[in-house]
Amino acid sequence: MAMIELENIIFSYNPEEPPVLKDLSLDVEKGTCQMLLGDNGCGKTTLFRLLNGLLFAQSGAYRLDGQEITRRGLDDNRQSKRFHQRMGYLFQNPDVMLFNARVYDEVAFGPRQMGFADAEIERRTEDCLGLFDLTELRDKAPYHLSTGQKKRVALAAVAALNPEILVLDEPFAGLDGTTVDRVLAFLTEWKKAGKTILLSTHEREMTASLTDRVLVLSEGRITS
Ligand SMILES: Nc1ncnc2c1ncn2[C@@H]1O[C@H](COP(=O)(O)OP(=O)(O)OP(=O)(O)O)[C@@H](O)[C@H]1O
Ligand SMILES: [Mg+2]
Repeated sequence: MAMIELENIIFSYNPEEPPVLKDLSLDVEKGTCQMLLGDNGCGKTTLFRLLNGLLFAQSGAYRLDGQEITRRGLDDNRQSKRFHQRMGYLFQNPDVMLFNARVYDEVAFGPRQMGFADAEIERRTEDCLGLFDLTELRDKAPYHLSTGQKKRVALAAVAALNPEILVLDEPFAGLDGTTVDRVLAFLTEWKKAGKTILLSTHEREMTASLTDRVLVLSEGRITS
C-alpha cells in the first residue's frame, strides 16, 4: 500500500466553473521524492493544499497510510494535530505562513503547538535556525525580511516540526545560489533519513538527483 493515495479526486473552487482537479489519481510511496511539474494555473498549489487538509475534494478519496483524510476527521483536534505533525507544508508564498513577532518565535511555534518540553523546543529551534543561516536574524520581525529570508524562515519552521512528509510548493523560487544549495543539502539529508518529499518546481534540473519520480499535472490530472 502506498503511503499517500489519491483516488479519482475531483475538486473545484466554484461549482459553476470546470473543476481544477479532474479525476486525479496518485500514489506516493514512503521515502520517495516526487517532483511536480505543470504550467502556471494548472493546479499544483491546489493539489498541495488538498494534501495538507486545507481543501477537500468534492469527490474521490484521499488516504494516508490507508486512513481516509476528511474534513470531518480533521475537525477532531487530536487527529488534526497528529496529521499536521506528520505532514509539513511550505506555502508557495511565505507571507501567508509567517505571523509571529520574531523569527525565533516563528520557528518555535510548531514545536510549542505540539506541546514538547522546553528543552526540546529550544533544541529544535536552534538547530533549524542554524540549518537555514537564521541565527543572526532571530530577533527580527519576519514581516520586515526580504523574500528569500522569509522563505528560509518558513523552511526552518517546517523543519522544526520534523515531519515525516514534506510538501514544498516552489521551495526554490526567489532564492539565491547559496540558499538553493542549503535547501538542496537539507532535502538530501531528509531523504536519507527516510522522509517522503513532494515538491513543485519550475526548475527541474536542480532536484533531478533527488527525484524518484517526475509528475506532470495537466488538465486536472497527473499525466506522467
Ligand atoms: N482560492 C481560489 N478561488 C478560486 N479559484 C482559484 C483559487 N485558487 C486558485 N484558483 C484557480 O485554480 C487554478 C489552479 O491554481 P493553482 O494556484 O493551484 O495553480 P498552480 O499550478 O499552483 O499555479 P502557479 O504555477 O502559478 O503557482 C487557477 O485557474 C486559479 O485561478
Ligand atoms: Mg502554485
